Amino acid sequence: MAEYRLRLASIEDARSIAEIHAKAWRETYLGVMRAEALTSIDLDDWTRRWRERIGSSEGAEAVFIACEGETPVGFARCSRQSNPKLVPLGFQGDIASIYLLLGAQRRGLGRRLIERLAAHLISAGCASAAVWVLRDSPTARGFYEALGAEPVGVEGVWDIEGVVLPDIAYGWRDLHALCAGAGAVTRSPIR
Ligand SMILES: CC(C)(COP(=O)(O)OP(=O)(O)OC[C@H]1O[C@@H](n2cnc3c(N)ncnc32)[C@H](O)[C@@H]1OP(=O)(O)O)[C@@H](O)C(=O)NCCC(=O)NCCS
Repeated sequence: MAEYRLRLASIEDARSIAEIHAKAWRETYLGVMRAEALTSIDLDDWTRRWRERIGSSEGAEAVFIACEGETPVGFARCSRQSNPKLVPLGFQGDIASIYLLLGAQRRGLGRRLIERLAAHLISAGCASAAVWVLRDSPTARGFYEALGAEPVGVEGVWDIEGVVLPDIAYGWRDLHALCAGAGAVTRSPIR
């Protein structure tokens, strides 16, 4: 049986994360995004952007990578909340992105990644968090609802390479509840 591990990503993971990101976009958004936008992804550019993001991560911002054995199969990123609609509602953290390759889905890895992000955010002083979810994605909505998130009554759009899709925000008022089952709450920073 496959063994999955989570760890904090380093700059050396930037290429792997860019590759997973691009592949997951193709698997997830085929038929949603323009086909040409999916085939023309510039991996070197995405690698550079991930290297910058990981390199500048501090405080609440972090990227975690999920590996099957030594092979990266997914990642997730969190940061401090900065959205002007969500900050006034009291949401302190942001679940910025989570992607797992199709073959690694429905094995509990998404839950583990979100729990890890929650523990990291708590350690950085963010006890609550929100996440933007495509309104018409039953997979993503079902996932966040299973993890105890609730719609917070804020809507937006995601302009994904020129295709504008309706988005809704889900939130956790208390991230401790999300971590409790996993025993993942830490009193000191994970790093
Ligand atoms: C969404 C995603 C992160 C979920 O990760 P995952 O590892 O597959 O999910 P888990 O196995 O941890 O599932 C946890 C629970 O979420 C719910 N869930 C997961 N996938 C679901 C789906 N397709 N439909 C409905 N509920 C789902 C289930 O209740 C599941 O528990 P169960 O397997 O015991 O029934 C993953 O499917 C993914 O990367 N999808 C593509 C990218 C994406 O949509 N990202 C989210 C953008 S906001």
